[in-house]
Amino acid sequence: MPYYRSVGEVPRKRHTQFRQPDGSLYAEELMGQEGFSSDSSLLYHRYAPTAILAADEFTPPAFTRAPNLPLKPRHLRTHKLDAGSADPVLGRQYLLANDDVRIGYVLADRPSPLFRDATGDHCLYVEAGTLRVESPFGVLEAVAGDYVVIPTSTIHRLVPTGEQPVRLLAVEASGHIGPPKRYLSVRGQFLEHSPYCERDVRGPDTPLLVDGEEVEVLVRHRRGWTRYVYANHPFDVVGWDGHLYPWAFSIHDFEPITGRIHQPPPVHQTFQGPNFVICSFVPRKVDYHPDSIPVPYNHHNVDSDEMLFYTGGNYEARRGSGIEQGSISLHPSGFTHGPQPGAAERSIGADYFDELAVMVDTFRPLDLCDAARNCEDDGYAWTWARRG
Ligand SMILES: [Fe+2]
Repeated sequence: MPYYRSVGEVPRKRHTQFRQPDGSLYAEELMGQEGFSSDSSLLYHRYAPTAILAADEFTPPAFTRAPNLPLKPRHLRTHKLDAGSADPVLGRQYLLANDDVRIGYVLADRPSPLFRDATGDHCLYVEAGTLRVESPFGVLEAVAGDYVVIPTSTIHRLVPTGEQPVRLLAVEASGHIGPPKRYLSVRGQFLEHSPYCERDVRGPDTPLLVDGEEVEVLVRHRRGWTRYVYANHPFDVVGWDGHLYPWAFSIHDFEPITGRIHQPPPVHQTFQGPNFVICSFVPRKVDYHPDSIPVPYNHHNVDSDEMLFYTGGNYEARRGSGIEQGSISLHPSGFTHGPQPGAAERSIGADYFDELAVMVDTFRPLDLCDAARNCEDDGYAWTWARRG
């Protein structure tokens, strides 16, 4: 997605004869976005990527969605959702959702099925553990702190690889996720004021060839879910090139933008999606004006719901609120939020914040899913009014 890559063997000219050792043609596939008017890649398969043997309707795990009523700031404790054995795709417990984005959480200890989401890109944040992302583009290894962006319709399998299960926050878009446009040149190069650049981005670098026949692939598509049986394993690509592929970026490579006085929230933006943004709050030197107040002012993001996932360090503005590792706060449009009582005064003189958090701000309201109700801290809404 961010820049051109070429992996494995590809012919010198696109759309020309490219033959296998037995003399037959490799099956060329163009995978492209926005009606082939945007990013694309060309993949060379050993087998026809079209050969399916069966198709059945599939019923995925169900979840409910209900409006945030009465309108309240919410605190969700994701680690309270830890269940038994789960896979990183079907085991996701959805917390918050609207028509643009679904946000789920999973503690996963076993590989997912082969899965294709034809409805949008996924951005996975690895809170803990290690994960291998397998796809026709190759393998991408991810560790704690990594974001992994998986483009729409990429058949993939997620494999926890460590001794401990992997903890994932999954942001699933109804559309495409990429770097903020303002950080890119007209031709797509990261600009000098971007908090990250090409050197921080990783992609698959060798082909992944899996032998096998008659393999199942689950597909989420625009009108439901279908289970296909493919005649050949889809990881049969000997080479590909283009700008469209799964990629990873570590939150620890995000260079914070700091200043003498409090910097506005957009400086933390890391990705943009359809009607939402993803931001990173990372350890950083804080505001250094002699009279600065390092924690944020009370604010009302009037067109957005703000979801914040606390994934490391100490989040200074939330001290005393019950927020812990793995917590999610939801501060919706229609409610003014700000630091907990005493936090502004306490922050004066601080020169460093050791905090790590992932924020998703959505332009449309986020509904609460049943898993959110199951891990909610009911007292959070009243923590600003504590007396004494
Ligand atoms: Fe906020």
